Amino acid sequence: MKTSSVMQKFIINGGKKLKGNIEVKGAKNDALVIFAASLLTSQPIMVSNVPEIEDTKRLLELLEKLGCKVKRIKYGEYKIKADSLASYSIDPEIAKRIRASILLTAPLLVRFGKVKFPHPGGCVIGERPIDQFLEGYKSMGAKTHNRGRLHEIVAPRLKGAEFIFNNITVTGTESLIMAAVLAKGRTVLKNCACEPEVKSLADFLNSCGAKITGAGTPHIVIEGVDKLKGGTHKTIPDRVEAGSFIILAATLNSNVVIKNCEPEHLDALLSVLRLAGVNFTKKRDRVEVKSSKLTSVNIKTHEYPGFPTDLQAPFCVLLTQSKGQGLVHETIYEGRLLWTEELKRMGANIHTYDPHRIEIKGPAKLRGREVESPDIRAGMAYLIAALCAKGRSTINNVYQIDRGYEKIEERMKKIGADIRRI
Ligand code: EPU
Repeated sequence: MKTSSVMQKFIINGGKKLKGNIEVKGAKNDALVIFAASLLTSQPIMVSNVPEIEDTKRLLELLEKLGCKVKRIKYGEYKIKADSLASYSIDPEIAKRIRASILLTAPLLVRFGKVKFPHPGGCVIGERPIDQFLEGYKSMGAKTHNRGRLHEIVAPRLKGAEFIFNNITVTGTESLIMAAVLAKGRTVLKNCACEPEVKSLADFLNSCGAKITGAGTPHIVIEGVDKLKGGTHKTIPDRVEAGSFIILAATLNSNVVIKNCEPEHLDALLSVLRLAGVNFTKKRDRVEVKSSKLTSVNIKTHEYPGFPTDLQAPFCVLLTQSKGQGLVHETIYEGRLLWTEELKRMGANIHTYDPHRIEIKGPAKLRGREVESPDIRAGMAYLIAALCAKGRSTINNVYQIDRGYEKIEERMKKIGADIRRI
């Protein structure tokens, strides 16, 4: 596995305004689940607008290790054919690094009647259990066993069932949809995640012959079918990347156009930004941000359509440049505010109440520093903070940023950022 960017750094000279257009790539979390879903058929699947990032490469490597044929047609476009799957065991070395490997469990269970996988680990943002996946598969007739952190699930043919999620989980909802499309009979899922990536998965599977209704709402019904055919999918725009660029422009009081996005997927963020005084115009597939005077607001992360946890970290940086005090309440993950300790050392005025709540007072003058990113989204937040800070910053372990954002320094340079990779 190539993880060379673990050793790479970004050197950033901050304090410059940005200007111009920046394009949003395809959504990481959409591409990942479509790759997994392509195992449900032995016919070819074409996926375009795929972000060329570390996480998509890792998942494609996992598919190849299972015996799947993966061909890169051109930049950002892949053909996947799972007609010669040879293994139901997910490679532990890669699975340990990428939580999304859990998405392969349902398709392998469907194809082989069994799946073996390690507990997906290595996550710094919180515990991230998998009980909802296991309970869901059990409700459909599967038997689960675990030895230490190694899981094995067996189910010769899954049966339709009614399942209510105790906790709203995006990949859990996606997994049970994938488990149910070829199951015997009808499955009813309640308290589902409503994220656009869930709707996108259902649209794709329906285009391959599945019968799914209600995706994008908390109540999803799946009528099992006997077979799926091949199909094509264009990855939807990455709403987290788009939101991060909008926040970047607002934080740096800059005029930037964020192109190729789906503004409708950003409603929660845009309504909070309006309250914070951000001057922007929403067009069909772009958001134009103009220089703005920022006022603090409170945010509380929530499942879609609420404020996304994946944008909490970038938004904290915006609050350091806003006048007043803003409370940040992270409700989804218990470890996702830890990164702000380093932001404090950059000069942010932050009071930590508990693992889920901090208060940020602004505006504060940020100073360049050497930091190391714990995860993808905190990595983007450090990038925004470094571009806003006076002086030079070094961001170590660029791999964490490359996991989620394609060639970020090249795209940021085009709008005037002083950033280089070494
Ligand atoms: N949860 C359970 N039991 C489960 C599953 C989840 O209690 O079996 C709880 C978790 O503890 C957490 C909440 O449900 O409190 C969120 O669920 P989870 O961690 O399962 O989220 P996910 O579906 O794995 C997806 C995205 C994340 C994003 C979250 C929330 C993918 C591949 N990942 O994760 O994206 O933060 O939804 O929106 O779709 C990222 O892109 O950086 C990222 C972390």
